[in-house]
Amino acid sequence: MKQRDVMVREVGLRDGLQIHPTFMPTDRKIAWIEAEAAAGVPEIEVTSYVPPKLIPQFADAEEVTRRALSVPGLTVSALIPNSKGAGRGFALGVHKLNFVMSVSRTHNLKNVRREREESVADFRRIVESARARPEGGRPIVVGGLSTALGCSYEGRVPVADVVRYALQLAEAGADEIVVADTVGYADPAQVRTVFKAVMAEIGALPVAAHFHDTRGTGLANVGAALECGVRRFDASLAGLGGCPFAPGATGNIVMDDLCFMLDSMGLRTGVDLEQLLRVRSIVRESLPDIAMQGALARAGLPRNYVRAEERCAA
Ligand code: COA
Ligand code: ZN
Repeated sequence: MKQRDVMVREVGLRDGLQIHPTFMPTDRKIAWIEAEAAAGVPEIEVTSYVPPKLIPQFADAEEVTRRALSVPGLTVSALIPNSKGAGRGFALGVHKLNFVMSVSRTHNLKNVRREREESVADFRRIVESARARPEGGRPIVVGGLSTALGCSYEGRVPVADVVRYALQLAEAGADEIVVADTVGYADPAQVRTVFKAVMAEIGALPVAAHFHDTRGTGLANVGAALECGVRRFDASLAGLGGCPFAPGATGNIVMDDLCFMLDSMGLRTGVDLEQLLRVRSIVRESLPDIAMQGALARAGLPRNYVRAEERCAA
């Protein structure tokens, strides 16, 4: 069993592909999932249970999930916007359902066409249905809060609103809360304020951070979240990502750079950095026109680099 101080979750297959106009062939998605799991990434959000008419990239959601579930040791998660999506996840036996709603009213209306209260009520029903399932067939249900650090329709988002909806999702029975900077507005000072406020309110429930690097503050925000005690981070290989219903949204923090920074700080992720970098070629070959970011890929590992795992063992 690998020792991990921080859990990283790959979201590029969902956050990255949802805005990309070219369909990535199912076999290539599976090759990406298998290679990244083999590199040591413990959890991958493999798809999104949204109407295929709305996002054709996820027309193969069922097949991708089924095949990902056969990858040994991998936690397979998927995004859901509503109960119908949850039903698809239950039927497949996916490990984790990442429910999404937005703290900003306008973004919630644009993205999932609902008032925030309706989203919370839907989440409550999803948790109830999950709990009614037999032991072993019950997925982990995650409550995700988009636009928690800013919204490209409304601008600043009040901290009190983030706390209120985090608490409502926690009280509804979430197993984990994700606080997301969907449009990359956050700075480290704001991250400290928001995460401290949320964590003080929801007690022991795990909180994950989902940052976009739209304005270059992504990894600085990870540093601030680490100081608050956050130990779960979303990221995407090569920094793919963006929300189709949020103007100006660009990529997530780069998984490769995140793993390097954490490892360099002595925090074990379980990820083999060189092996992870090699996974990029699968994306490059499958989607030649997609923009790929990454400082570690450009610069390489420092000379005589010693991995956190080896330093911990010494
Ligand atoms: N999966 C598949 N089909 C779904 C579905 C789901 N999760 N949710 C709804 N549908 C179907 C309904 O069955 C209905 O089908 P029909 O026209 O054949 O009867 C149709 O879609 C419309 O259903 P409705 O409940 O009226 O949905 P809507 O049109 O109000 O859309 C969402 C609401 C939530 C489904 C849609 O806004 C959505 O998927 N948003 C997510 C956007 C996203 O992925 N954003 C990026 C991630 S943050
Ligand atoms: Zn995102």
